[in-house]
Amino acid sequence: MMLKNPIGIFDSGYGGLTILKEIVHTLPEYDYLYLGDSARAPYGTQSFEKVYEYTLQAVNWFFSQGCSLVILACNTASAKALRNIQQKDLPILHAEKRVLGVIRPTSEVIGNYTTSKHVAVLGTTGTVQSNSYLIEIEKFFPNVVVSQEACPEWVSLVEENKMDTQEADYFVKQHIESVLGKDNNIDTLLLACTHYPLLIDKIKQHTPEGISIISQGNIVAESLKNYLERHPNVAEKCSRGQSRKFYTTGDSHDFNSHASLFFGDKIAAEKLELASS
Ligand code: DGL
Repeated sequence: MMLKNPIGIFDSGYGGLTILKEIVHTLPEYDYLYLGDSARAPYGTQSFEKVYEYTLQAVNWFFSQGCSLVILACNTASAKALRNIQQKDLPILHAEKRVLGVIRPTSEVIGNYTTSKHVAVLGTTGTVQSNSYLIEIEKFFPNVVVSQEACPEWVSLVEENKMDTQEADYFVKQHIESVLGKDNNIDTLLLACTHYPLLIDKIKQHTPEGISIISQGNIVAESLKNYLERHPNVAEKCSRGQSRKFYTTGDSHDFNSHASLFFGDKIAAEKLELASS
């Protein structure tokens, strides 16, 4: 009999819960293991080498739990670690397992949301500096003009639960004004960091009318659904018992109180130490 295991969902902290929430909504029948590396977040300001090292440790942990499919629900990890893991590590370690990211599925559809064909990508410093969105969007929508803005403070606002503060107002307003100042024709803001949807009230408040704000959760969930339909050999290795388990490298009490708020359901996470395999 074939051994089946949960789908792994990884993020640097709480942010990936905004993706998991939509995935669970779209594909409720599967089991999921969520891991947030809160102890080492933020990833967005760390070097390529560090993000790659941490992400590979996480992926190896998911594999040790039996997962055949892992989603890097973190733009920074997708930008800095995914290619190496897919091209260098997987073929040697586990050629039969799959690791997917969030940048490609988002880039595949973002051009459909804009009328003016001018889009702003808001992300971490790491994501923006990697130029991954510029490169990927160009492949699917060569006529779309992309402006980028790094919003380094936004992740800390979320991780520190300061979404409803004056500090949040200040930094959200600052970055939205800055990116819109780069191109007068922008009609679409892409929240290209999983933490940012948790600031949605402030983002809406400081975004002029007529500009759409796009979060990735729904896009990634639809893309995963499509992927599993197209890859029945991967889908059949994923167990379907509707369970959700949560792990954090940080303080589990902290994680539970914040994460429950973001996920919508009560969360009881276990603390985990990540190390190189
Ligand atoms: N949530 C991650 C992302 O989507 C990064 C947050 C962080 O800096 O840790 O990019």
